[in-house]
Amino acid sequence: MNYIQADLATPARGQIRLHDESAFEGMRRAGRLAAECLDLLVLEAKPGVTTGYLDDLARKFAFEKGATPACLHYRGYRNTICTSINHVVCHGIPNDKPLRDGDIMNIDVTLIVDGWHGDTSRMVILGGAKRRAERLVEITYEALMRGIEAARPGGTLGDIGAAIQEFAEGERCSVVRDFCGHGIGRLFHDAPNVVHFGERGRGYELRPGMFFTIEPMINLGKPGVKILDDGWTAVTRDRSLSAQFEHTVGITESGVEVFTRSPAGLDCPPYDKPAAA
Ligand code: MF3
Ligand code: CO
Ligand code: CO
Repeated sequence: MNYIQADLATPARGQIRLHDESAFEGMRRAGRLAAECLDLLVLEAKPGVTTGYLDDLARKFAFEKGATPACLHYRGYRNTICTSINHVVCHGIPNDKPLRDGDIMNIDVTLIVDGWHGDTSRMVILGGAKRRAERLVEITYEALMRGIEAARPGGTLGDIGAAIQEFAEGERCSVVRDFCGHGIGRLFHDAPNVVHFGERGRGYELRPGMFFTIEPMINLGKPGVKILDDGWTAVTRDRSLSAQFEHTVGITESGVEVFTRSPAGLDCPPYDKPAAA
């Protein structure tokens, strides 16, 4: 038995929680606030600004809104956001170095609202990035959206991974294997693992009430990563550029609901020309 009503019992290890309508309402609020936080950050991220400054902004935003930053003190992590620049794949730690023209950066924020977690990340392109960097960012956003489009009740986790992998590899990019999306809800990282590669029809069946993240990391070079001595920062082994976007979603009776869409229409760059919200 791999699925359990989230409100009825304590799941055994690895069991997948199926949430009710009141949980969807909680996730909408958490997802929206995390997205609003990113709306602020992607507009503030410019050459010359430090990632430490963006981290301060995010922490203050969270506390002003009565939310808790999920990353702060998570397994010893000391910041509110992760800022992963250029060949950093994920879990880059904010610092006092100014962002540089031509950098690409992922900003990842997770906020807890009334116990529910909204986890989302976007890329920003700082100033005039090279065309191949811009292209990687576009491909990665498209990969996330194809993964979301593949999510429906009766489908499987493999449908999502396959949609992402086929698209990314078709564009001569590679999919990171060492990090994955995850179940989410009252827990930050819950079952199941949501890998961004795979085969259609394989893996757990998707059922209404499942909450999870989809957060593909796509590299211009090879998929291999290594962790730096700080214990967090993951970089590409070949130092090729890496990009990532993340949404938190819920499976509904008829499809999928995205909890972390940008209320301002700033889901992907360029952010200076926001689409109609
Ligand atoms: N937000 C990341 C995720 O998508 C997790 C970051 S954990 C941290 O799952 F401690 F590094 F912040
Ligand atoms: Co995240
Ligand atoms: Co996540």
